[in-house]
Amino acid sequence: MTSEVSFKKYELPPLPYKVDALEPYISSGIIDVHYNGHHKGYVNGANTTMDKLEKILKGEAAGYDMQGVLKNLTFNTNGHKLHSIYWYNMAPAGKGGGKPGGKLADLINSQYGGFDKFKVIFTEAQKSLPGTGWTALYYDTESKNLMLMTIENHFNNHFAELPIVLIVDEFEHAYYLQYKNNRNAYLDAWWNLVNWDDADKRLSKYL
Ligand SMILES: [Fe+2]
Repeated sequence: MTSEVSFKKYELPPLPYKVDALEPYISSGIIDVHYNGHHKGYVNGANTTMDKLEKILKGEAAGYDMQGVLKNLTFNTNGHKLHSIYWYNMAPAGKGGGKPGGKLADLINSQYGGFDKFKVIFTEAQKSLPGTGWTALYYDTESKNLMLMTIENHFNNHFAELPIVLIVDEFEHAYYLQYKNNRNAYLDAWWNLVNWDDADKRLSKYL
């Protein structure tokens, strides 16, 4: 049996709607650049970094900074995976928003005192995020809690025990073309797009 050095590469997942499907809440111009530019860039970046790791393993890399390589790999891999959740967490305008149902609603009601209170605290978490990053809702398979998470930049590890149920991208590239520096207006608009069925399906896999 021969030993090989080879990592499987990532592919950009399909956008689950047309680029203008989220208007007026998020413009087609933003989605085009965000998906075809930024997300694709993270996929390419992760794959390029895995190429680099292959070269290192083969002894073909002349000089390298291992921590730099791993930081690149983490940034791009997480960027790819977080965006893959973000797109599917939204539904075309008119088909998203409202309130959650299913087991997600049950957990929100039993742990957060109802959807209205949950929305207030999740909004507070979103709007208080300093700089660049994400706000997420995840399910802790150990404590059985539905919990809030803040993610700086892309630097979150996707532990299998902490699956993300709902996430919002708060990088400037997610809103600046349309909302300029009014991030809060983008975050308020985002609630109209939430695909609660998708969030409930993500949670249900772990219950
Ligand atoms: Fe993004």
